[in-house]
Amino acid sequence: MTMSIRFISLLMMLHLVLMVPVLGQRQTGFVSIDCGAAENFEYTDDSDQIKYSTDGAYIQTGVNKNISSKYSYPNNPNLPLPMSDLRSFPEGKWNCYTLRAGPRGSLHLIRAYFLYGNYDGENKLPQFDLYVGVNFWSSVTFKNVSEQVTLEIISMAKSEVTNVCLVNKGLGTPFISALELRPVNSSIYNTEFGASASLLLFKRWDLGAIINGSGRYEDDIYDRIWYPYGSSSWDSISTSHAINGNNNGYRTPFEVMRTAAKPKNASASLEFSWTPNDPNSKFYVYLYFAEVKTLEINQLRKFTISCNGHLLCGPLIPSYLVAAAVSNLKPLMGHEHRISLHRTEDSSLPPILNAVEIFEVRMMDAFPTLEKDVNAIMDIKEAYGIQRNWVGDPCEPKNHTWEGLICNYSNSRPPQIVSLNLSSSNLSGVIASAVCNLLSLESLDLSNNSLSGSIPKFLSEMRSLKILILKGNQLSGFIPAALLKKSRAGLLKLSVDAQNLCGSDKCKKKLNVFVPLVATISSLLVLLIVFVIIWKVRRNIQPDKETSNPIKEGTRVASKKWQYSYAEVLDITDNFKIVIGKGGFGTVYRGQMKDGNQVAVKMLSPTSSQGPREFQTEAELLMTVHHKNLVAFIGFCDDGNKMALIYEYMGNGNLKNYLSARNYRCLSWGRRLQIAIDAAQGLEYLHHGCKPPIIHRDVKTANILLSEKLEAKIADFGLSKEFKNDTRDVGSSINTNDQGNSEPAVMGTKGYLDPEYYKSRKLNEKSDIYSFGIVLLELITGQPAVRKGKESVHILDWLRPELRRGDLSKIIDSKLQGKYNACSVWKALGAAMACTASASIHRPTMNCVLSELKKCLEKEVPGQGETYIVPPQIYRELHDLSETYPMDDESITYPFPR
Ligand SMILES: *[C@@H]1O[C@H](CO)[C@@H](O)[C@H](O)[C@H]1NC(C)=O
Ligand SMILES: *[C@@H]1O[C@H](CO)[C@@H](O)[C@H](O)[C@H]1NC(C)=O
Ligand SMILES: *[C@@H]1O[C@H](CO)[C@@H](O)[C@H](O)[C@H]1NC(C)=O
Ligand SMILES: *[C@@H]1O[C@H](CO)[C@@H](O)[C@H](O)[C@H]1NC(C)=O
Ligand SMILES: *[C@@H]1O[C@H](CO)[C@@H](O)[C@H](O)[C@H]1NC(C)=O
Ligand SMILES: *[C@@H]1O[C@H](CO)[C@@H](O)[C@H](O)[C@H]1NC(C)=O
Ligand SMILES: *[C@@H]1O[C@H](CO)[C@@H](O)[C@H](O)[C@H]1NC(C)=O
Ligand SMILES: *[C@@H]1O[C@H](CO)[C@@H](O)[C@H](O)[C@H]1NC(C)=O
Ligand SMILES: *[C@@H]1O[C@H](CO)[C@@H](O)[C@H](O)[C@H]1NC(C)=O
Repeated sequence: MTMSIRFISLLMMLHLVLMVPVLGQRQTGFVSIDCGAAENFEYTDDSDQIKYSTDGAYIQTGVNKNISSKYSYPNNPNLPLPMSDLRSFPEGKWNCYTLRAGPRGSLHLIRAYFLYGNYDGENKLPQFDLYVGVNFWSSVTFKNVSEQVTLEIISMAKSEVTNVCLVNKGLGTPFISALELRPVNSSIYNTEFGASASLLLFKRWDLGAIINGSGRYEDDIYDRIWYPYGSSSWDSISTSHAINGNNNGYRTPFEVMRTAAKPKNASASLEFSWTPNDPNSKFYVYLYFAEVKTLEINQLRKFTISCNGHLLCGPLIPSYLVAAAVSNLKPLMGHEHRISLHRTEDSSLPPILNAVEIFEVRMMDAFPTLEKDVNAIMDIKEAYGIQRNWVGDPCEPKNHTWEGLICNYSNSRPPQIVSLNLSSSNLSGVIASAVCNLLSLESLDLSNNSLSGSIPKFLSEMRSLKILILKGNQLSGFIPAALLKKSRAGLLKLSVDAQNLCGSDKCKKKLNVFVPLVATISSLLVLLIVFVIIWKVRRNIQPDKETSNPIKEGTRVASKKWQYSYAEVLDITDNFKIVIGKGGFGTVYRGQMKDGNQVAVKMLSPTSSQGPREFQTEAELLMTVHHKNLVAFIGFCDDGNKMALIYEYMGNGNLKNYLSARNYRCLSWGRRLQIAIDAAQGLEYLHHGCKPPIIHRDVKTANILLSEKLEAKIADFGLSKEFKNDTRDVGSSINTNDQGNSEPAVMGTKGYLDPEYYKSRKLNEKSDIYSFGIVLLELITGQPAVRKGKESVHILDWLRPELRRGDLSKIIDSKLQGKYNACSVWKALGAAMACTASASIHRPTMNCVLSELKKCLEKEVPGQGETYIVPPQIYRELHDLSETYPMDDESITYPFPR
């Protein structure tokens, strides 16, 4: 075994530094956790002045326990306070403390304490493993119930967070009594393995010590604990003069350096040795020297250091009151290690040694799984609520890869997930889009679950995917053409259920939208009722002109291009192949027009009482309503008793689903504003651009659909109300009860329904403004209009007290992760609160709301995060608007804008 030496120059330490203990400075960066202590419990330990805190901020799992009083105070008065309680982990195989300790590459001393103390009354000593991140640190075993096991490791941080994990290996419940982390100057304790090796503490000795028990000194800035060590053949020497203990960053404390051991027999060498359990273990030994005696002019202390007879270092002469550190450059390996300090021929004094540290190398070369893959698999875990053993790192340690995962390991890069097998895992919902973020995925097996929806197109864009098994699910729709192409070219092994899916040449032409449209069918009946009413009203106004009206005739002729025969509907829907929605009043099918455009076809139930003529008349109304922010009406079918309405198909479903907690995609603040503006433009058109104006009556996130490019469009005019526009009615509200006998009293959706309209039954456009305000609040807060639970909570009831507190971070959707311009958000909140004012008279018009939102967007600078105190005038405005009630309902009148 070749040994080389490292001798740390003493010349650089001419500047003498007095070692004054500075308590505050000493604990900067320290993490000291008294595991299992009561919540919010913080204290400074009397004996060592360490400030301990509870585990709460570092771990969510586990239960707090106290050790048996038999081993605790006052029966054991010397027990350090952190040892009297502990946190145990009966649930889960892996449980990790997350310590945010410093940037990647910083060096940490991590120390964990364990005292069983029969805390569970079982009197059975557990055995478990300890990991730093994904790397094995040590097994924890106990000799007896009262033994305090302390494990220490010096480790290089692999990322900004350092996880310390307890792993249940089936030999008892893991627990921990205390956990400490200390920052260490990263220029010391280096090994030839660099960052991939950690140093597990084997011994740390204070030689020649004159105290009993362990030494934990306030002037040790790394908070190392030094144990006195001596031998009957040694004598102790010491000084009370200050020592320059900087020794190139090792900063050994004064109390340790001021004493040293020397052999009693002045001509003998100073020796110590240890025997490793495993001869392949690699050791590093650090020796610390400082001369503590004033030497006479003719005296000389000079010696060499060797291990098992091989020279390690020297000859060396310790400097008076200046500390030096020496260590081996290559690791020591063998059955026994005997370190000897030999005086040289010319030396008149025996060798001395002030302190020693011995470390065993622990290779920490496993990388955590690629972060992108971790995020993706966590999203998948969340989307499907997967339990299994999916905790800790997905791919590491290798003997604990998550069930259903296969990873590709390499020596130099983080592992990546190459196979995901979730067959027969009780999954439901759609195929999670997070799958497409697993860039190295080669095999995906989702067979025998209850997955529904269509096969997403992104699967065909996953370059490495070679096996895709989807059979045994309730998937519907088209197989993306690109997937079929890959499969036919032999690049992909594809397994799907043929019966539900459309993979024929006939329908695989140009299909690229696969997210199902969420359609509300129940409102179709209402739609028809409304049509009947409006038709009746119109007929009453113009009873005789109806059939002879030349304009109407013109519309009717023009309507031919909107009209489709039943045969055409059959063709469009490919014989009603793909159902994308179902309700009591009919079914919605996906279809494709001749020009390749995707459509949603709503078939009206043949039992509907509506006559074909009325139906056609009313379909004409829809033809006159066109706006880029309204879901486009494409045509209708009125063929005998077959009636259908054909709409544009929206690729990203509705806003409600998009905002929902499960959805891993997060809309940025700017995008949310744009969606609000889009929807506002659609509503503004209905209110101010249509003649006669139209009140939507059911504005809600479920009725705002998103295109592939996330443009928002208002959908479902099921409850829409065409406003009479006679001069008589301008400037007055319309009492819905006057509109016909079959008119339902109040319509809308819980949570969005204007309370004033509900009370007064007087419908006006401001009811839509109220509902739009709720939508805006949902966009801002990410909260649903009504939070369901034991007690339903309306968003305004939750929000108003929060607004008074004025802490924006508590209000805004946490998914935005602070990336928003607070000014812009406050402005939008102001607009939303104005919209939801209790009295409709205080609510702004859609024009106003729209211009406010546009100002919000101007303020928004993407990626900018800032904290912001609510400006007083906004606060007052919010407060006033939300609390003002009209004195007299009768007096509410407002001009109806054209
Ligand atoms: C442990 O003991 C402390 C002090 O007696 C007590 O406050 C705490 O509730 C106990 N904890 C548990 C988990 O029993
Ligand atoms: C428990 O083990 C420790 C370490 O071996 C020992 O120091 C202690 O005396 C033992 N205590 C009892 C009660 O056996
Ligand atoms: C150390 O222990 C010995 C014997 O138990 C005792 O005589 C001595 O006074 C102790 N020294 C100190 C500094 O406490
Ligand atoms: C770490 O130690 C080296 C050597 O003594 C020193 O130059 C450096 O300033 C120290 N770094 C810190 C952050 O204390
Ligand atoms: C002192 O050490 C030397 C060298 O190892 C040895 O020869 C001598 O016998 C020792 N003297 C005593 C008194 O043990
Ligand atoms: C995993 O491997 C480590 C080290 O090779 C071993 O100590 C540990 O017990 C193993 N864990 C399991 C659960 O097999
Ligand atoms: C693992 O990754 C390496 C490097 O990217 C690649 O060459 C190898 O084919 C991969 N192995 C598997 C099984 O995917
Ligand atoms: C997925 O796992 C199931 C059983 O757990 C197995 O039958 C199937 O072959 C696996 N799929 C792949 C692609 O390996
Ligand atoms: C499957 O999921 C349903 C609901 O999500 C649950 O009720 C059922 O117990 C699960 N079945 C199994 C075998 O996990």
